[in-house]
Amino acid sequence: MVTEVDLILITGAAGFIGSNLVQYVLSKTNYNIVALDALTYSGHLASLAPAAENKRFSFVCADIRDAKAVRSVFEQSRPEGVLHLAAESHVDRSIDSPMEFVTTNVEGTVTLLTEAERAWKGDKSKRFHHVSTDEVFGSLGSTGQFSETTPYSPRSPYAASKAASDHFVRAWAETYDLDIVITNCTNNYGPYQFPEKLIPVVIDRLQRREPIPVYGDGSNVRDWLYVEDHCDALIDVFEHGESGETYCIGGESEVSNLGLVERLCDLYDELSGDDIGTSRDLIDFVTDRPGHDFRYAMDITKIRNELGWAPSVDLDGGLRRTVLWYLESQPWIDAVLSDDHSDFQERWYTR
Ligand code: NAD
Ligand code: DAU
Repeated sequence: MVTEVDLILITGAAGFIGSNLVQYVLSKTNYNIVALDALTYSGHLASLAPAAENKRFSFVCADIRDAKAVRSVFEQSRPEGVLHLAAESHVDRSIDSPMEFVTTNVEGTVTLLTEAERAWKGDKSKRFHHVSTDEVFGSLGSTGQFSETTPYSPRSPYAASKAASDHFVRAWAETYDLDIVITNCTNNYGPYQFPEKLIPVVIDRLQRREPIPVYGDGSNVRDWLYVEDHCDALIDVFEHGESGETYCIGGESEVSNLGLVERLCDLYDELSGDDIGTSRDLIDFVTDRPGHDFRYAMDITKIRNELGWAPSVDLDGGLRRTVLWYLESQPWIDAVLSDDHSDFQERWYTR
């Protein structure tokens, strides 16, 4: 358990989950935040706009692979905890360009661990929380669930890089006595997700009235968690999780990809007010993802029993909120699709 933490470092803060976590922390806790992000194609200052004027928030544009830059953040800002989210996160991109996943997800994590250990020197009141994925466990058939005791069996370059980073985090706990926790979560959805992952891709195609790509026959199953619920779980684990432990997080909301896309089509027809008839006609079955994991599902007994966390947003309610957010957020969509990241120095400062 961490005590009397004032300032936390959130890496990957300009990404989907990171930017939601920044808003969650500012509204639900008293922590000050140093946000670190390299502003890659998936990191956008537009996603941090709601936090920009908050005096408890500062932003550093840095790459987690740059040891000098990371050390300087530890020396200048003296964070008492790290929530590490920075990563290359998209499975399809990892199939096309695996090396970027190795350097950021593995080398970048090791760089952060090294600098955290150097700064904290065995002080167990400081905590390193690694935010990871259920994909490290591999692929399920039509029954069963992953849990904290499931053996690792990553199958994509992305999953392998996250599995490796999990192992390095545990190694730092054993070898250097660093206080760590790891969370492995299922698929997130909600506001500020870059339009490359399934749900924002579907909404984008619905708005453009273009074909909606469904890989294979659409029978692959994912377990969906509303991003705010994930943020809630992350803070619970960061504050109250047992040192060295892993906690599995999931939405208890399994659905096939085709079932999910059909729900989104129907919601869009209802909410857009365009009177456009059935959007389901846009569904387009395309070539499957190589090595496509069939099913993910999570047993969340441990986090429920030990920390009292459970998802609070059901899938229908979360999807409705998400579609509405995208319908009302065209300026954000335009900003992230055209972002050249050139103006950050003028608008952001380093704590
Ligand atoms: P994202 O791609 O939206 O955001 C990743 C952020 O990391 C971006 O802002 C990007 O600029 C930053 N980044 C990338 N490389 C960097 C580097 N070298 N140095 C500094 N910053 C860098 O991803 P996300 O969906 O928000 O995922 C965040 C974390 O949560 C990842 O670690 C991911 O593995 C994990 N996770 C995601 C999900 C999900 O469904 N999205 C589920 C479980 C776990
Ligand atoms: O399970 C957690 C993981 O969930 C996270 O660790 C990853 O960072 C995150 O990207 C996500 O991985 P997935 O590969 O499950 O997410 P994605 O949105 O890319 O795909 C969801 C499912 O939809 C998957 O079965 C592939 C399919 N799909 C995806 C896209 C982008 C399609 O059918 N069409 C598409 O256009």
